[in-house]
Amino acid sequence: MNNQDNNFFGSGGIRPQQLMSLEGMASRIHEHSKRVIGNMIEYKELMMMYACAIKEIRTKFEILDTDFKVRYSRNPISNIKSRVKSTASIAKKLKRMGSAITVENIIENINDAAGVRVICSYVDDIYLLADALLKQEDVRLVEKKDYIASPKENGYRSLHLIVTVPVFFMDERREMRVEVQIRTIAMDFWASLEHQLKYKQAIDDEGEIVSQLRECAEIIAKTDCRMMAIREEIEKMKDTPTEDDVMLEKLSKFDINIT
Ligand code: GTP
Ligand code: MG
Repeated sequence: MNNQDNNFFGSGGIRPQQLMSLEGMASRIHEHSKRVIGNMIEYKELMMMYACAIKEIRTKFEILDTDFKVRYSRNPISNIKSRVKSTASIAKKLKRMGSAITVENIIENINDAAGVRVICSYVDDIYLLADALLKQEDVRLVEKKDYIASPKENGYRSLHLIVTVPVFFMDERREMRVEVQIRTIAMDFWASLEHQLKYKQAIDDEGEIVSQLRECAEIIAKTDCRMMAIREEIEKMKDTPTEDDVMLEKLSKFDINIT
């Protein structure tokens, strides 16, 4: 079966030599409609599965955040955002790849149909959370791009992971792919504004604007490092706790809201 015959909209059309009789044509149209509707249902089900995979990954991060809060009295995660890629974006990406719009091609070629973005307080929280996620036995790493260790030419920074996570449905277990982007509040601030600006105007060739944005990204990265250093300094300043202090600290955690 070639790609054209197998896209969402069914077969490549009805050829004149096939218009044998009205009855034949009606039955062929019926078959064609059935195939189109079948493909649409399959697509909708796949999108539901991606939405469920997002729930699994979000829950994993929420649990890590709660555990960290109970142990260290601060939240490493400031915010979690997620989305299932829109149909238009999926279609555009497959077209760019030269692939037909089919459920099989989405599963095979689109890594970011399900996307989760984790916004952290400090740079070290990013790696701590990534390690804690990847240590989990049901999570498999497919691809890792560390745009913090090696920022993109334009200054973009983030840690990108493509992972698979099992999702248990009524009668099957599916390994679903999810793109996880982990970044600090500062990195997210830069990426959000850069994305907006890029959207407004094609800035690819605007040398001056590109270099100003890159400079801003570097200032932001330095600030991120300084904020982390300040936190570490404060942590070091804390005196070695007495036995009473430890007891009081544990008692204070009784009141932490862990929902
Ligand atoms: P895509 O086809 O966009 O998925 O690119 P890719 O497969 O090379 O993936 P990559 O990991 O480089 O980037 C994927 C996602 O990271 C994008 O969809 C954006 O959300 C984000 N991203 C990557 N580069 C930039 C950038 O320069 N600026 C901003 N604002 N976001 C970026
Ligand atoms: Mg993408």
